[in-house]
Amino acid sequence: MSETDFEEVDRFIADHLVDDDPVLKAALEASEAAGLPGINVAPNQGKLLKLLAQAIGTRKILEVGTLGGYSTIWLARALPPGGRLVTLEANPAYAKVAYANIARAGLSGAVEIRVGRAMDTLPSLASEAPFDLVFIDADKPGTPDYFLWAVRLSRPGSLIIVDNVVREGAILEASSDDQSVQGMRRFFELAATDPRVSGTAIQTVGGKGHDGIAILLVTAAA
Ligand SMILES: C[S@@+](CC[C@H](N)C(=O)[O-])C[C@H]1O[C@@H](n2cnc3c(N)ncnc32)[C@H](O)[C@@H]1O
Repeated sequence: MSETDFEEVDRFIADHLVDDDPVLKAALEASEAAGLPGINVAPNQGKLLKLLAQAIGTRKILEVGTLGGYSTIWLARALPPGGRLVTLEANPAYAKVAYANIARAGLSGAVEIRVGRAMDTLPSLASEAPFDLVFIDADKPGTPDYFLWAVRLSRPGSLIIVDNVVREGAILEASSDDQSVQGMRRFFELAATDPRVSGTAIQTVGGKGHDGIAILLVTAAA
């Protein structure tokens, strides 16, 4: 199948199973108008995030990498009344767009955006742990560090979801000089040897190309 076919299949899936949502559509339009890169999750992946969050009855979510708040809105919609989502974003201009998108979605009361590099903001979250679900989708070289923080800020039963773990198959290249590939390879090593988690990853194809998503269940206390 060609890249175009993969996109068409993504559209077929979304047409059947993902509601056409004006608020999410407006979030993407506002992000594009503000010049943000189109590196948000695809609609069918956004719905997967929401379903996973709902399935485990999550009340507290941590997201690393906000961009314009598209995945944030999907995840926050899984929260019950009184639930909370903290999302970390390094770029203040992106955070401003996300803030407006989240407000338009009526989720300002549940979502807090912390602006700054994740390695600077993550330590401040220790007093708010444990989180029931952590979604890691920021700079890829930082993923191993964010994964270790995610485990630290979780409890047995929490889910950790990591995006972009396959990178069009470049994950196989041990001597790659691409720091994003090396970051993901290191993440796999950590996930494979950490006795506190049990996980897997699946390859994905579609409108966002060939990539993958890892899902890990925290099985033991940090
Ligand atoms: C792939 S985008 C996030 C997409 C978003 N999760 C979605 O699907 O709608 C990655 C985001 O991480 C942010 N980022 C990059 N480095 C970061 C860092 N060190 N700390 C926090 N955020 C960072 C980028 O500015 C960008 O907005």
